[in-house]
Amino acid sequence: MSEEVLTLALAKGRLAEQTFDLLEKMGIDCSEPRDPGRRLVLWDKKNNIRFILVKPSDVPTYVDHGVADLGVVGKDTLLEAGRHLYEVLDLTFGRCKLCIAGYADRSNALVTRATFRVATKYPNIARNWYGDRGETIEIIELHGSVELGPVIGLSDVILDIVESGSTLRANGLSVLEDVCDDISARLVVNPVSMKTKRDRVRGLIDGLTEQVALMEKEKKQ
Ligand code: PRP
Repeated sequence: MSEEVLTLALAKGRLAEQTFDLLEKMGIDCSEPRDPGRRLVLWDKKNNIRFILVKPSDVPTYVDHGVADLGVVGKDTLLEAGRHLYEVLDLTFGRCKLCIAGYADRSNALVTRATFRVATKYPNIARNWYGDRGETIEIIELHGSVELGPVIGLSDVILDIVESGSTLRANGLSVLEDVCDDISARLVVNPVSMKTKRDRVRGLIDGLTEQVALMEKEKKQ
């Protein structure tokens, strides 16, 4: 058994499942985190790897504080968190883009008011996006079903991720601007772990890099 414990923080849901697929191909046993029940700390004892499954927005927090050595989370969440982590690998799945969306024809909007309102799960990204252009806006932070904002008259537009576009279409909304079209799952590392657990961390990065390359090759065939 390897000496040092390596702790991985994973964003619960699809990103974690796809990460397990890659880790299993590297010989890491993901049977516990795949079927955690109500347990929050899961192990591959043989390889001395500890998994914690957390809300996406908490992944950067655990890695930044060094209680997780590595994390897998969407680039959108990283941009919003703005923490000092090493982003070492694009895992290529979870692809989507961050957009401003709303009614293509503003005459459909329910409310017109002096202050432009943006509903979003990403207040920091929204602040930077409009702030860089010198535009004054009001940000309304929501935690889900953001598309409701313009539909119900809470906001003029939303800043949100768009994957298939079906949620926008189903609610009569359109993409108005692209904020970032390069969103996908990323592997991040705590800068201290990168030094103190160098060999173990490097081994995991190299293994995942190899698996991502194989996955991309298979997709092209
Ligand atoms: C996300 C996002 C959009 C939707 C985009 O929401 O906030 O609502 O997915 O995907 P689409 O372009 O394929 O329709 P999620 O499903 O995570 O749920 P939430 O609204 O509760 O955050």
